[in-house]
Amino acid sequence: MTSFRPAPAWLADAVFYQIYPQSFADSDGDGIGDFNGITERLDHLAWLGINTVWLNPCFVSPFRDAGYDVSDYLNVAPRYGSNDDLAKLVDEAGRRGIRVLLDLVAGHTSDEHPWFKAAANDPADDRYVWAPEGHPDGFVPSPGTRPGAYLPNFFAFQPALNFGYARENPAEPWRRPVDAEGPRANRAALREIMDHWLGLGLSGFRVDMAASLVKDDAGTTETAKIWTELRHWMDGAHPDAVLLSEWGEPEVSVPAGFHADFFLQFGGPTDGLALRSLWSNGEGTVDENWDQLDCFFDPSGKGSPRPFVEAWHRASTALGHSGFISLPSANHDFSRLNCGPRTADQLPAAFAFQLTWPTLPAIYYGDEIGMRYVPDLPEKEGSVLGPRYNRAGSRTPMQWDDSANAGFSTAPPDRLYLPLAPSPNRPTVAAQLADDTSLLHLVRRLLALRTSSPELGPGGSVEVLHAGYPFVYVRGGRYLVVVNPRRDAVSYGYDGARDARVLAASGIRVDGDGTITAHGFAYGIFDLRRGGGQ
Ligand code: NOJ
Repeated sequence: MTSFRPAPAWLADAVFYQIYPQSFADSDGDGIGDFNGITERLDHLAWLGINTVWLNPCFVSPFRDAGYDVSDYLNVAPRYGSNDDLAKLVDEAGRRGIRVLLDLVAGHTSDEHPWFKAAANDPADDRYVWAPEGHPDGFVPSPGTRPGAYLPNFFAFQPALNFGYARENPAEPWRRPVDAEGPRANRAALREIMDHWLGLGLSGFRVDMAASLVKDDAGTTETAKIWTELRHWMDGAHPDAVLLSEWGEPEVSVPAGFHADFFLQFGGPTDGLALRSLWSNGEGTVDENWDQLDCFFDPSGKGSPRPFVEAWHRASTALGHSGFISLPSANHDFSRLNCGPRTADQLPAAFAFQLTWPTLPAIYYGDEIGMRYVPDLPEKEGSVLGPRYNRAGSRTPMQWDDSANAGFSTAPPDRLYLPLAPSPNRPTVAAQLADDTSLLHLVRRLLALRTSSPELGPGGSVEVLHAGYPFVYVRGGRYLVVVNPRRDAVSYGYDGARDARVLAASGIRVDGDGTITAHGFAYGIFDLRRGGGQ
């Protein structure tokens, strides 16, 4: 196994916060979020306990896939401000102890990128995957003077950058080896892009579709080599920066060179089961190919934490101390926590679990106040992926306050990024700030507890006492965690709980004989050291 420099020490304490820049905070009232808006909210993020922000792509783009169609990797989209505004955001974040990660779209560009425009008119250019004639399955007809067709990586307007094919196939003469000129130029370009932003003070990247680079790559062996090479370069040139992958299989991506990978709604041997078995309740974003499943965080109580625990165990055993797994509350491609039959009163237990499990938590903007997935929104910037898969519902404007503007509604309607959720009971940051029993305050308290208790971080041990309802585990031999995501009360007997000190709890009773009764949607975090002393 290749050896890498250990991950920078800060990563073990990272609390990620994902910002979808379109929707987070609009400082100039044009209806679209921007960098200055984010900068204005940094104090709030620091107050909450966030130390690492990941921004979805914010580069020049025609925005047909919300910015995942990059047409210039080195300049930011004017709608978010200037390169200087981003530099100011990074600087102001740094002053508050917050690192900023960008999104690196490595596998494809926009069809408006100058590289692609050149390739579409030059038969000798091999920066993209071109079939010289005809229109093979899955290819898109050439838009330029060059005959043939190109291979897209996601939507048709996202041509795949050519990192080569892992093997030849006489029936597909367009396949290039991984060390051909175009693939080499693309690898060099990735390094240049990374070097550019890391040199400006960014702290790393979340890498889009990280597994997609080399085609026909059984076991992703050749793709892994590209990341290994980049990691070795980063270890020397930018040792304090990190690479997080959108891969969904930490046991493969971390040995390849990533410092961390996410559990995702797809990916890995069980195709995203780890994450979906926790959160996905059949509403919100639903892929027709997903098996119906009863998720654990559901009032019916028909799910189980086992698929998650097993996947986590498999991955973390494979990783040892070589890297991390991140557990998101949601993301811009997947339903929010507050979705379908799951309601706001069920969210505290979800956060009690997410913020005490030995993974790096990633909070999707707005989940900390319980923003709801909004069904049936119109298609926006490529949001619709299938008949029941509209990502717009997870991308609505951050609900800062009740005022009509909320940063978004002063703009003419055609400039509005998305309408506000049409509910009179929308949770807002302002209301929750004023109420110390709110979800926002709970998330803050849980983050403070996690930060002050190393045993609750990714390095602390976990002993699962009961993988069911309630879910009961002990962190670092010291902290007992009990979560009951179902509607009905459940109980569990644990002798050690008798003298435990309550650190955070709702709806939990511990009797003198050690019986823990967890009412519907209850959670509890206890210090097993009597009195909480050392
Ligand atoms: C994954 C991103 O998260 C998603 O939003 C995007 O549409 C595709 N990759 C294509 O870049």
